Amino acid sequence: MKKLVVFSGAGMSAESGINTFRDSDGLWEQYRIEDVATPEAWKRDPELVQRFYNQRRKHILSAKPNAAHLLIAELEEFFDVHVITQNIDDLHERAGSSQVIHLHGNIRLAKSSGPNAEYSTEFYPVEGSEQDLSKHFCKDGYPLRPHVVWFGEAVPAYADAQDCVQDADIFIVIGTSLQVYPVAGLIHEIPAHCSAYYIDPKADQQQLPPQFQKIVMTATQGMQHLKEWLEQQH
Ligand SMILES: NC(=O)c1ccc[n+]([C@@H]2O[C@H](COP(=O)([O-])OP(=O)(O)OC[C@H]3O[C@@H](n4cnc5c(N)ncnc54)[C@H](O)[C@@H]3O)[C@@H](O)[C@H]2O)c1
Repeated sequence: MKKLVVFSGAGMSAESGINTFRDSDGLWEQYRIEDVATPEAWKRDPELVQRFYNQRRKHILSAKPNAAHLLIAELEEFFDVHVITQNIDDLHERAGSSQVIHLHGNIRLAKSSGPNAEYSTEFYPVEGSEQDLSKHFCKDGYPLRPHVVWFGEAVPAYADAQDCVQDADIFIVIGTSLQVYPVAGLIHEIPAHCSAYYIDPKADQQQLPPQFQKIVMTATQGMQHLKEWLEQQH
């Protein structure tokens, strides 16, 4: 089976009703990054940060996978499909994708807020949408914090993602502005023989290596557009 790797960003879930970060109606228009998504914010006001992620979780739980998530999951019949996502939602898994790497964490999980939490490998499932600082603790006694990689923190899953793309036959990038490093660097790690696509309504504004074909469409339109071609490849 050929190896097909999907690399998704916030635009992947936009048609499921989950806001992107940098579009004009995106999340960062409503919140300052420093107030909610940094280790310093957690130190300063953990209640505010917890509330922000409780809202995100509630919204994500009420959202459904869109046609693009579903198409990617269906491709497992024909390809060895791996998904690498920057999203903290679990819509790829709920669509049926079985091999998903979360570069920036998974909001359905929590972890310790103690020292070195960014490298923690012990995760706690979150029941429902609410985490409470005064009720939810990890084994070492620290309050649980969301399993999210905050700005300024290490990205421990990046090495797995690098390994994953290095022998890809087909690479499809969907709905990411490629502004967040180190993960945006993944597009330079694919092998020379790999067929590479970039699906994004703003694809024509993106500087990409010549190996990439740009598809100026939304995630659902772009995956539908590629489907016929993909069916001839396996
Ligand atoms: N769903 C989520 O879990 C979620 C939501 C928002 C942000 N984030 C986080 O935000 C960070 C920001 O990076 P990013 O590049 O993923 O997001 P971004 O907001 O920087 O970029 C979003 C991209 O999606 C494109 N887009 C908008 N609508 C689209 C659609 N319908 N179909 C396809 N593409 C569409 C935009 O043109 C843009 O290029 C990531 O680290 C991610 O963890 C996650």
